[in-house]
Amino acid sequence: MLVLAIGSMSCQKKDTYQSLTYNTYLVQQVDSLHFNIDQLIHAIENNQDSTEIRQQFIASRLAYKKIEWAVSYFLPHTAAAINGPALDQLDLDENKFIPAEGFQVVEELIYPSYDTTTQVELLLQARKLKNLSNKIHKNFEAITFEPASVLEALKLEVFQITTLGITGFDTPASKLQFTEASASLKGVGQAIAISKSWANTQAYSTIDSLLKKAVAICEVNPAKNTFDYLDFILTYLDPLAKEIVALQRELAIPFLQNNQVIPGEIGSLFDSQTINLNAFLPDSTYYPTAHKIALGKELFFDSQLSKDNRRSCASCHHPEKAFSENRKTSLDLAGNPLQRNALSLNYAGYYHGQFWDMRSVTLESQTTDVITNKDEMHGNLKEIVQVLNQSDSYKKHFAQAYQTDTPIAVWQVENALASYIRSLSTFNSRFDQYMRGNKRAMTQEEQKGFNLFVGKAQCATCHFLPVFNGTVSPYFRSSEQEVLGVPKDKAGLHLDDDLGRYVFNTDLEQLKHAFKTPTIRNINESGPYMHNGVYESLDEVMDFYNKGGGIGLGLDVENQTLPDTPLDLTEQEIQAIVTFMKALSDQP
Ligand code: HEC
Ligand code: HEC
Repeated sequence: MLVLAIGSMSCQKKDTYQSLTYNTYLVQQVDSLHFNIDQLIHAIENNQDSTEIRQQFIASRLAYKKIEWAVSYFLPHTAAAINGPALDQLDLDENKFIPAEGFQVVEELIYPSYDTTTQVELLLQARKLKNLSNKIHKNFEAITFEPASVLEALKLEVFQITTLGITGFDTPASKLQFTEASASLKGVGQAIAISKSWANTQAYSTIDSLLKKAVAICEVNPAKNTFDYLDFILTYLDPLAKEIVALQRELAIPFLQNNQVIPGEIGSLFDSQTINLNAFLPDSTYYPTAHKIALGKELFFDSQLSKDNRRSCASCHHPEKAFSENRKTSLDLAGNPLQRNALSLNYAGYYHGQFWDMRSVTLESQTTDVITNKDEMHGNLKEIVQVLNQSDSYKKHFAQAYQTDTPIAVWQVENALASYIRSLSTFNSRFDQYMRGNKRAMTQEEQKGFNLFVGKAQCATCHFLPVFNGTVSPYFRSSEQEVLGVPKDKAGLHLDDDLGRYVFNTDLEQLKHAFKTPTIRNINESGPYMHNGVYESLDEVMDFYNKGGGIGLGLDVENQTLPDTPLDLTEQEIQAIVTFMKALSDQP
């Protein structure tokens, strides 16, 4: 008894000690954030010049970057508020936009130049930063930091540096992404070294050496337009994340099993299993199985799902066209053009929001929409289910897939189709093979194209790695819509009149002409491009971006979220990007 009691006491002591250390460390770091924000407020109040104000701003955000790993993981809402994009945030539950706040709003007020007439606004925003950091302080005093969560948070921070940090996503005006990445990396290093037992491992010595080299590269503030992002990710960032997982193995700390989007054991952002799609689903009744996928495939190609058996899903989603259609826009049942281009289904499971306007939340609800749409299939789900219930073969397959002998139900039809669609993402392009170590999988031209895609052309600030769509990685909590100002016609004389996401949210003016950011995986197969199929080739798409989107074309676009300054890409650079995009086609 006594031995047991002592045993458990010392164990408890050790845990408390460890979590106390993280609480103490993080609270100290927040104190330094506080101090810097106070200095910023002080500089603004005292009418200091813009250089001084910027310096205080930079110091504040560097202090934040050091604890970004913990804020992003443990306090996601606060992270979104304190360092989200300087765009009002859509809150669909409340049907409103929440005004933007945080670092990026401050950044926009002081870069590229500070207009002193905005002093009152700037001061207000800086004070909001202070409030948010107070919130972080309170939480960091109270949270219990379990070792497995800390390690997972650190790994995800390395992914975040890869997807949102060095790409310039959160430093659009200041362009300080490398300086900030170096602070984030140092934060990761410090957090691991807090625990002596962690710092004494073999994995840590590799981590330490990778971190030192990566930080040194970032600290010289390399030229953004010519930096070798590909090499930096492959030589430093991805290996770092893998080593954090190795560290956890070495310490024999069990991986969390919380149905996380990126499972604990996964150490690379570019593994075929990196993203766990089940984490997007409400519960296990929806999880795909081999039976469901096979059944969904059967349904997908079956025209009994449409009125008078005239169409199946495959009539508009052709497997050899990345499950899209080689047509500007799809045709209705009478053969007249519909408003929109058929989306590729290959990575359709990786969005929060289906269709160009995200009107449907899940793949399940999306299916009903298409089947019953009078222009698309004009089917009736009740009737379809009746027909299916008369088929012995379908009855057998549904019973196998859903482990029940009750009659086939509508939700099962939806879920089987959705399961099939979820299975259509293989992460097996030459780009993926390259990222997994096959150096011959991409040509030099394609490698150059990737670097331009991330760097000079800023494409990766919307088409996020590794899915190349608008679902913000590495947490995958939301998918973005954007206003690009896509024209109606190739000549670019008129803005397309499709109001996009606004059609279903007419209280929200900012959603006019907003469309979801689709993946560009398999883009070579899925043309024509954009919601209205206006562009036939990737060269035409590139020309649109290079000019600065709709505004760049001279159109009157309210709320364009794509930067409207021309990218100044040369013809050669454009070709490299196009060539790179073609390396994103899945291999058979
Ligand atoms: C008439 C042609 C047509 C048929 C038939 C059709 N689709 Fe589509 N599909 C489209 C078009 C066009 C879009 C884009 C529409 C939009 O965004 O408003 C689309 C979008 C989708 C999306 C959204 C993808 C994303 O990334 O958001 C899914 C999923 C989908 N279809 C699945 C299906 C399934 C399953 C069926 C059969 C039940 C089907 N489609 C039948 C034309 C068609
Ligand atoms: C501001 C965010 C943003 C940036 C930056 C951005 N895109 Fe896009 N991209 C989108 C959105 C949103 C769409 C869909 C727009 C529409 O149809 O109206 C899109 C569509 C595309 C398409 C067509 C996809 C399809 O299935 O039809 C391609 C190709 C593409 N982007 C490539 C790029 C490249 C290359 C760059 C960099 C030069 C880039 N994008 C930069 C948001 C962005």
